[in-house]
This record gives sequence, structure tokens and C-alpha cells, in this order.
Amino acid sequence: METIQQLLDEAERAIAQASSTAELQTVETHYLGRKGAIGQLLRQLGTLPPEQRPQFGQQVNAAREHLEQLFAERRAALEQAELSQRIEAERLDITLPGTPLRPARLHPLTLTMQRVKRALIGLGFEFVDGYDLERFDYNFGALNYPDDHPAMDEQNSFHIAPGYLLRTQTTSVQGRVFEQLQRGERSLPIRIAIIGRCYRYENVDATHSHTFHQVDAFMVDEGVSMAHLKGVLTQFAQLMFGAEVRVRFRPDYFPFVEPGVDFAISWKGGWLELGGAGLIHPNILERYGIDTERYSGFAFGLGIERIPMLQYGVDDLRLFLENDLRFLEQFPLL
Ligand code: FA5
Repeated sequence: METIQQLLDEAERAIAQASSTAELQTVETHYLGRKGAIGQLLRQLGTLPPEQRPQFGQQVNAAREHLEQLFAERRAALEQAELSQRIEAERLDITLPGTPLRPARLHPLTLTMQRVKRALIGLGFEFVDGYDLERFDYNFGALNYPDDHPAMDEQNSFHIAPGYLLRTQTTSVQGRVFEQLQRGERSLPIRIAIIGRCYRYENVDATHSHTFHQVDAFMVDEGVSMAHLKGVLTQFAQLMFGAEVRVRFRPDYFPFVEPGVDFAISWKGGWLELGGAGLIHPNILERYGIDTERYSGFAFGLGIERIPMLQYGVDDLRLFLENDLRFLEQFPLL
């Protein structure tokens, strides 16, 4: 009987002294584990005279229950203390200043292209994609350039492989869309627009680059005339530059339009050319089997870089391509 009481006293001390749940676990295994002290006491049962066995058994069981209770209580207390300790150790001081992040912003050309798209979508045009690396035929041949016509030299090109070049104008998508019409994948009337990069082998200066962007739009329907072209470009200019802007059309030559015009807007007391336009040449429509007695169309193509140049007062187009953060950071966040 002495030994049970001694064991209990010793165990209670060990439980009280355990300073972590891990330590407590070791103590528990020592007393209550399969080969623990309590188990050993029970194994002594067989060595006792039969009349003492029930009482001894009850005492050992009572001791085990008592210890189980003590372990549970101590474990709960230790767990609570350890949790508090962890919370304290992992505490974030939210009053410390953070590492400042640079807010991301869109490139001014991207912003401009988004505005151009919004304006033309609002006017009923559908945007399609083209190819930067384009077939010579779509860039020139399909656009009614006579063979060896000097207008092709004006757009000196990066020829990548026989028959392939980096497109010099987004007008190159026209032939692809007209082929879709022929294949029955589209039907008239159409209002199509494309925006993207163009490349020309140019001497780079403040207003010319080897890589730049254009937007082209064209429409084919019954009875489309210069009046529609002027109406759409006037509205487009007003959406982009404000209701006060005035537009100017002067005769110009492009092989794929007849008549052809250049298109300018009023700016700071003068005129600023944005691109070319005209009625789609009947040769092109006929080439793709469109009945020119019934249908006609207009087309225009504008340089994109000019727009933010005049809106933000940037005097050198090269700045848009150099990705100098000191320049780019001056543009508004969205
Ligand atoms: C054309 O490219 C015709 N495709 C436009 C067109 C489309 C006419 C449909 C009629 C019908 P042009 O070569 O003039 O035309 O270029 C149009 C505009 O692109 C120019 O006014 C200019 O704003 C811009 N551009 C042309 N070359 C460069 C360059 N090297 N760097 C920056 N912008 C350029």
C-alpha cells in the first residue's frame, strides 16, 4: 500500500514540474504507458494472496484514474501557455512602416490604344487580330499595289524570308478579312478595325521609328460614300480630342483607295496629320468577288504614337519605346 501512495506522490511532483507538453508526455509514458509504473503494479497482482487482490486492484485503478485526471489538467494548462507564447512570438507589429510598392501603371501607348479601341467599338467596329510577320501579298499585293510600284519603296520593309516581311501597315489585314467573306465566314455589311505594331526600315528621328503602331478601320456596305468616312473620322476625332476639334481632308494617293485623302486635326493653331483614308478601291472589292455596283467601302489608317505625343506634349516618339521609368512615371495612373 505504501508503494501506491509513494508512486502517486512522486508522479504528482513530476506532473507539476513538467514545463512543456513534450516533457509531460514523457512523464505520462513513464507512469501510464504500456510498460509504465502503474502497469507494473498491476502485474504484481498475481503475486498477492487471493484475498488481497480485489482491494489492491481497486487502489491501483483509483490511482490510475487520479493520475489521468492530473495529466489532463496539466496538459490543458501547458497547451494554453504554449499557445499564448506562440501568439506572442508571432505577433506582427502593424505599426511598423511597410516596404513601399511602386504602383503599376499602363504604358501611355497602351492607354491610348485602349481609348482608340473604345471609341471605334462605340462607333460599331469589330476589332480583329492580324499578323506582325505578314505575307508580302497581304501587305502589298492584295492592296492593289502595281508590281514594282514606287509606293512600296516608300515603306521600306524588313524582309524576313522570301515572301514574308514585318508588316508595314495594319491595312494588311483587309485582304484576310475579305477572304473570310469569300469563304462565307463573314457576310456584308462589315465594320472591321485592327490595332497593332508596324515596322518600317526608316531613319529613326523624333517622329519616325522602325517600330510604331497603327489603327486601321474599314467598312463595306451598300452606298458607303466619302460622307460616311468623314462622319466617322470626325466623330472619332471628337471622342479622342474633344468636341472642339476640327478635321481636315486633303487629296492624297494610296493605291488601295480611290479617292484618297490625308486626314489631319486642328492642333494649336495648325494642322496635324494623323494618317490616310479613302474609299476602298473597286479593284480590291472586285478581286474578292464583291459586287461594286451594289457595295462600296471606306478605309482609314492612323498612326497611334502621334496621339499621346500631342495630348501629353511629348516631342520625341522614341521616348515611348525606350521604357525609361523616369519618363513613364509621369503618366497618370488609371
Ligand atoms: C499608311 O500606312 C496607310 N496604310 C494608311 C491608310 C489606310 C490610307 C487606309 C488609306 C486607307 P502612311 O504610310 O501615311 O499610310 O502611314 C499612316 C500613319 O502612320 C502616318 O500618318 C503616321 O502617323 C504613322 N507612321 C507611318 N510611318 C511611321 C513611322 N516610321 N513612325 C511612326 N509613325 C509612323
